[in-house]
Amino acid sequence: MFVLLFLLASAQAGAAAQGGDQTVQHVCSVCHAHGLMGAPKIGDAGAWNARLKNAGSVDQLVQSAARGKGNMPPRGGQTQLTDDDLRAAIQYMISRSGS
Ligand code: HEC
Repeated sequence: MFVLLFLLASAQAGAAAQGGDQTVQHVCSVCHAHGLMGAPKIGDAGAWNARLKNAGSVDQLVQSAARGKGNMPPRGGQTQLTDDDLRAAIQYMISRSGS
């Protein structure tokens, strides 16, 4: 019974949106891992705090990432990413930055 539940749960997880960590690993970290072109770097709490403060909320950061900003292409260049994918990725990067 537990095994069945586990299988069901993992099948559903597979069908749902990618986890934030996956999106970050495959897409966002290209620029955000090293702060390329002024991107707020993963692990830099100050940079992410400033972004969050400036935007006002995580929702606003999601909108900003969807539109693109400066040298950041819309949705990090991966237009198939949904707003939920972006939100999960942003929350992951913020949580990894300790802010
Ligand atoms: C091609 C490089 C690149 C990729 C890929 C990229 N970013 Fe960025 N990102 C940037 C740069 C550069 C900035 C700084 C833009 C500025 O303020 O001029 C930025 C800024 C941001 C900001 C702050 C926006 C704001 O309003 O201050 C968020 C949030 C963000 N990126 C999220 C993401 C997410 C989520 C992904 C992955 C889906 C991603 N980025 C992929 C380069 C990138």
